[in-house]
Amino acid sequence: MMKNNHEFDYLIIGSGAAGLFAANKLAEHGRVAIINKGEFSESSTWYAQGGIAGVMDAADSVENHIADTLRVGCGLCHADAVEEIIGSGRRIIEELIEYGTIFDTEGEKLHLTREAAHSHRRIAHAKDATGKAVGEALLAPVVNNPNITCFQKHMAVDVITARHLGGYMQGPNRCLGAYVLNLDGKVFNIAARHTILATGGAGKVYRYTSNPHVATGDGIAMAWRAGCPVMNLEFIQFHPTCLYNPQGSTQLLTEALRGEGALLTDAQGRRFMPDYDSNGELAPRDIVARAVDHEMKKLGCDHMYLDARALGKKKIEAHFPNILNRLLKLGIDMREQPVPVVPAAHYLCGGVQTDVAGRTAINGLHIIGETACTGLHGANRLASNSLLECLVMAERCAGFVSTQPEISQPHLPEWDASGVKPETERVQIKQNWEEIRTTMSNYVGIVRSDERLRRARRRLAIIREEIASYYWQHPISRNLIELRNLSLVAELIVRSAQQRMESRGLNYSTDHPQTLPEAKDTVLSPDFW
Ligand code: FAD
Ligand code: SIN
Repeated sequence: MMKNNHEFDYLIIGSGAAGLFAANKLAEHGRVAIINKGEFSESSTWYAQGGIAGVMDAADSVENHIADTLRVGCGLCHADAVEEIIGSGRRIIEELIEYGTIFDTEGEKLHLTREAAHSHRRIAHAKDATGKAVGEALLAPVVNNPNITCFQKHMAVDVITARHLGGYMQGPNRCLGAYVLNLDGKVFNIAARHTILATGGAGKVYRYTSNPHVATGDGIAMAWRAGCPVMNLEFIQFHPTCLYNPQGSTQLLTEALRGEGALLTDAQGRRFMPDYDSNGELAPRDIVARAVDHEMKKLGCDHMYLDARALGKKKIEAHFPNILNRLLKLGIDMREQPVPVVPAAHYLCGGVQTDVAGRTAINGLHIIGETACTGLHGANRLASNSLLECLVMAERCAGFVSTQPEISQPHLPEWDASGVKPETERVQIKQNWEEIRTTMSNYVGIVRSDERLRRARRRLAIIREEIASYYWQHPISRNLIELRNLSLVAELIVRSAQQRMESRGLNYSTDHPQTLPEAKDTVLSPDFW
C-alpha cells in the first residue's frame, strides 16, 4: 500500500529542455513524474530563438568551439565540464533530429547561423524559434509515455530531505521527494527515489528580462534551503538586444540577427560598437551589453537601435519570420526601420554547484539545466551553449540515477497548514515584488559598485524577513512562493557580487575595475549563512 500521496522512482521538477530530456531517458528505467508550474510552453526553452551550438561543419572543430567557450568565460570555465559538454554538441544535435526536431537546412546540410564570439558558423536553428521546435520534439514522447505522469500547473514548494524528518534516517542527508501545490491551493507530497530540479533561471529578479514569468529561481532557492551550496551567482548575463517597449513586456531580438549582419546604432544611425571592440557587433555579449548601457547613459537616451535592413527583406522574412511578425503587431517593420533596443536580464551563469551529471551535496537531489552551475560558462556564457548544456546534463543525470541501487521510500509527513490565518490584503506581496526587482535593476545591474551592493543588501535583507514572517502566517499561493524564492535568490546574487573584488566577464565593478591574476569561483554555502 502507498504510504504517501504519490510515489515515483523519479520526480522531475521543470519541463524545459533539461526536464523533458531527462524524463524521456528515465522512463526506460522506472516511473517518472514531471511537474511544471505553468503551461509546457512557458519556459526559457520554448523562448529560445538563436539555436543550439555544435560542431557540424568540416571546416570547424571541437577544439575551436572549446577555445571560444573558454575565451568568453574569461578564465573561470571549468575545463572538464567544457570538454564534456562541448564535445557532445554534434551527437546531441543528431539526437534532437531523431526526436523529430526540424532544423533549417541548406541543400543536404544543416544551415548553421553565427552568433557573437563564435569563430565559426555553428548554430543549428529552426528559423528564429529553435527552442519551440526542440521543446515540442521532446514533449511529444513524454505525453504519450505510460511511464510518465505529467502534473501541469503544479508548483514545487520545497524538497523534502531526511534532515527535515528530524534525523529519521542515519548517515548522510538524502532527498526524499517534494511538497507540491496543486490547482486547488492544496499541498501534497510526492515521494521519489531521486528528485531532479530543472526549474530554469531567475530573470524575474530584474525589472526587464527576456525570461518567461516562471523564471523566479525556485530551484536555486529550494536547493539552498535543503543545504546545497551555490556558485558564481554574480554572473548575470544581460542580452544586449531586447525590444524597448515602455508599454509592455520586452522580447528578445536574437543575436543571430547581428550574426547575419544587423548593426547597433544610435538615433542618428552612428555605429558605436567599433569604438568598444574590434569585433564590433560580434564582440562577446558582456562587452556589447556594457557598450549599449554606456552609450545610453552617455547620450541620456532610453534605448539604442538594432538596424537589420542590410540583411535584405528576403533574408529577414525567411530566417526571422517570428520576430518580424511580433514586431509588425507592435507597428515596427524591421525590414524598413531600425528597432529600439535595450539590454535585459537574460541568463544566469551561476547556480547550484553541481557536476555535469547534476550531482549535488545531497544524495538523491540532482540539479540540471540553467538552475545548475557546472562551470561550463565561467564568467560569461557563449551564445547557444545553454540548450546544449541542458541536454548533456539531462543525459548524464539520467545515466547516473538509473544505475543507483533501489532504496525504500519512507513515510513523508503531510504538509502542515495549521495555524495560518486567511489572507486579508495582498498589497504587501505586490510591494515586495516591485521593491526587489527595482532594487536589483538599479543597484545590481550591468555596472556595480560597493556602495550600490551594500544598499541592495540592506534593503533585500529587510524584505526577506518581511516575506518570511508573512509566508508562515498565511496560506501559500504561487505568487507568495515565487516571491519568497525570488527574495532569497536576489540576496544570494548580491552576496556573491560582494565577494568578487574584481571585474571579470559579466561582473563589472567601478570600485574594482581590474581583473585579478587568479580566477576563483564564488561559492556560498548555507552552512555559513
Ligand atoms: P526552462 O526551459 O526555463 O524550464 C524551466 C521549467 O521549470 C518550466 O517548465 C517551469 O514551469 C518549471 N518550474 C520552475 N519553477 C518551478 C516550480 N517551483 N515548480 C514546478 N515547476 C517549476 N539558449 C541557447 O542555447 N540558445 C538560444 O537560442 C537561446 N535563446 C534564448 C532566448 C530567450 C528569450 C531566453 C529567455 C533564453 C534563451 N536561451 C538560449 C537560454 C536557454 O533557453 C535556457 O537556458 C534553457 O532553455 C533553460 O532550460 P531549462 O530546462 O533549464 O529551464
Ligand atoms: C539569442 O538568440 O540571441 C539567444 C541565444 C542565447 O542566449 O544563447
